[in-house]
Amino acid sequence: MTISTTVNGKAVTLNAEPDSPLLWAIREELGLTGTKFGCGIAACGACTVHVNGEPARSCSLPVSEVAGKSITTIEGIKGSDGTLHAVQKAWIAAQVPQCGYCQSGQIMAAVALIEKTGKPSDDQIDEAMTNICRCGTYPRIRKAIHAATGQAATAVEGAA
Ligand code: FES
Ligand code: FES
Repeated sequence: MTISTTVNGKAVTLNAEPDSPLLWAIREELGLTGTKFGCGIAACGACTVHVNGEPARSCSLPVSEVAGKSITTIEGIKGSDGTLHAVQKAWIAAQVPQCGYCQSGQIMAAVALIEKTGKPSDDQIDEAMTNICRCGTYPRIRKAIHAATGQAATAVEGAA
């Protein structure tokens, strides 16, 4: 079937089986490979994108469900000046990534959290950031989220 949707602000028509995961369309059909495949069962968050502004795990979202919706991938976020998003800048400054595999999903989850809450507290970060990082970058993720929202890092966050 063909599915009309919007990806990173551009109208696109996807040709896919209705139950095919959105992740395949993003990576294989559109060639947007910043979104990663990890577990395939909505557990790790490596495949996180935004659907109508909400974080979604694209490995487990049938492409038929995004018809008429607006999808944003890691390639589609940017700052008001057209360069890197404030979260990406904070990620670089805090040297968050290690192997990097989970990081586009982490950034997409963080951007969605900040857009929803403004200045998320530690509890809000812990509750919302359920993406898995096998390298254990969680303290730096917290630090970068605080930095991106103009909040000072706590002692714990500054530890890693
Ligand atoms: S690959 Fe989608 S949640 Fe792990
Ligand atoms: S940076 Fe390696 S899995 Fe997160």
